[in-house]
Amino acid sequence: MKKQSDFLSKTIVDLLNYRIEQEEFSSRLYLSMSLWLTNKGFQGAGKLFKKFSDEELIHADKAKEMLLANGLQPITPALEKPEQDFKSLPKVIEMSFEHEKEITRQCNDLTKAAFKEDNFMVVELGLWYAKEQAEELDKFQNLIDRFETFGTELDLLRELDDEMKEM
Ligand SMILES: [Fe+2]
Ligand SMILES: [Fe+2]
Repeated sequence: MKKQSDFLSKTIVDLLNYRIEQEEFSSRLYLSMSLWLTNKGFQGAGKLFKKFSDEELIHADKAKEMLLANGLQPITPALEKPEQDFKSLPKVIEMSFEHEKEITRQCNDLTKAAFKEDNFMVVELGLWYAKEQAEELDKFQNLIDRFETFGTELDLLRELDDEMKEM
């Protein structure tokens, strides 16, 4: 029987496939948010969330590349249907922030598992995810700070939507 892989344990393979699934789910969630926002007239926010959706697919690709580099076929997972109704722009941002916190915990688990096995190839990938997560947490944290300081009145949301076109 063919050995699974010289450098990736079953635990690591499972965690990498889980990354693919979760990053692709993130992409679908942000896509759903983008469509909801656009349909509600938030053109800038809709455009920004479409960009976030595309970026998540790059995160999924990173895990796929690691599996392929080790001679393994990455999974193409079935994905859960994301939420379709989001109530308001601040709610979208709040929900995204909570989602990114959960993803950060997952990425830390991958890095921890790789460290435990002295798998430095995967540690490096885990650290790349950690760096991305720090940026994502910062992005949503800044928006939430802004709501806390300036409020969520409609004219303020319109101003933010305008800015989001250029973000
Ligand atoms: Fe991601
Ligand atoms: Fe993300």
